Amino acid sequence: LIINNNLFEINIICMKINGIDYCSLWEENSKKLAINAIDQRLLPFELKIAKITTYREMILAIKDMAIRGAPLIGIAGAYAIVLAIQELIQNKQTLDRIIEIIPEIRMARPTAVNLMWAVDRVVSKIDFSLSIEKNFERVLLMARQIYYDEVNSCKQIAKFGFELIENLYSKYRRPINILTHCNAGWLATVDWGTALAPIYYAHREGIPLLIWVDETRPRNQGSKLTSFELLGEGIPHTIIADNTGGLLMQMGKVDAVIVGADRVTGEGDVCNKVGTYLKALAAKEHNVPFWVALPTSTIDWEIPDFRKIPIEERSPDEIDFLEGIHQDKICKVRITPIGSNSLNYAFDITPNQFVSKYITEKGVFDSIQDLRKST
Ligand code: MRU
Repeated sequence: LIINNNLFEINIICMKINGIDYCSLWEENSKKLAINAIDQRLLPFELKIAKITTYREMILAIKDMAIRGAPLIGIAGAYAIVLAIQELIQNKQTLDRIIEIIPEIRMARPTAVNLMWAVDRVVSKIDFSLSIEKNFERVLLMARQIYYDEVNSCKQIAKFGFELIENLYSKYRRPINILTHCNAGWLATVDWGTALAPIYYAHREGIPLLIWVDETRPRNQGSKLTSFELLGEGIPHTIIADNTGGLLMQMGKVDAVIVGADRVTGEGDVCNKVGTYLKALAAKEHNVPFWVALPTSTIDWEIPDFRKIPIEERSPDEIDFLEGIHQDKICKVRITPIGSNSLNYAFDITPNQFVSKYITEKGVFDSIQDLRKST
């Protein structure tokens, strides 16, 4: 198998870690397809690149959240199909086997619709009347197209969202205070991010910012990943306990909230990291704009009602144990009594009436219906 790496030119800006350009996931430059990805479980303590060569390794990376964030797991799922076909070729198996593999990849995580969306797009390129080698080429091209499109979408989100921040700056003429939840930056996409993209753009345009970073229990994507990203870009930020946002809004210390999304219904109801809903409630009470940044790949046009969105329930261990670093070693400590129950829903839903603006690659909209009409 020869992979033609010139099939697609991918132009990535890349975000900074200690002054060096990085993105979250990329193809290794080799004859056989392999995917390199930052292992997000180890950040901010260790920067390790995982090399993924089989579809099962990719599924595990998604389930275990070495690779995470809605757009990124979509891209990872797309490449998992490509890896699976590569393995079938190597093992001299027939293409029919892919039929059993597809649902395994699609359901690696249940909530972010980007995963199913990207897998379905790649699978639509499979044509059983063609050779398996030809199919490999076709799915690889589609995975690269999805990768490229998501990078571009995030860049557009950066530009459109920047205009909202710029408006606030024109009004207040002082540093703009923005609160964000979870990690919706370049680690969760490939480049730029969704919720953090307008923040990066505004910072590069010279608008002074202060970002309130929700720690985002139980996995602490805010305090571990968002802070790590913002440090890399040199953006002033302060990590807060998840429950602090309401107080800050009451004190007038939040000018806007920006979050990402894992699945948005056609009605505009937003499923995102658990805790988002409480921030939206507080924002409404205090007249703080609540913006949701998303590529349109995050919209589930099919789902009739937000109550039908599958909410992932993860291991109680994520509540019962905290992970940190001690004497240069990453370690886990138990923080709950043995015998108590813990419940770990990973996402919640913010109904559309709490969302002030949807920032997408197609522009900024008051409602998802407006977005639909415009396209
Ligand atoms: O469980 P995670 O870390 O994959 O959840 C991620 C989020 O909830 C993000 O806010 C969302 O995917 C938007 S990503 C740009």
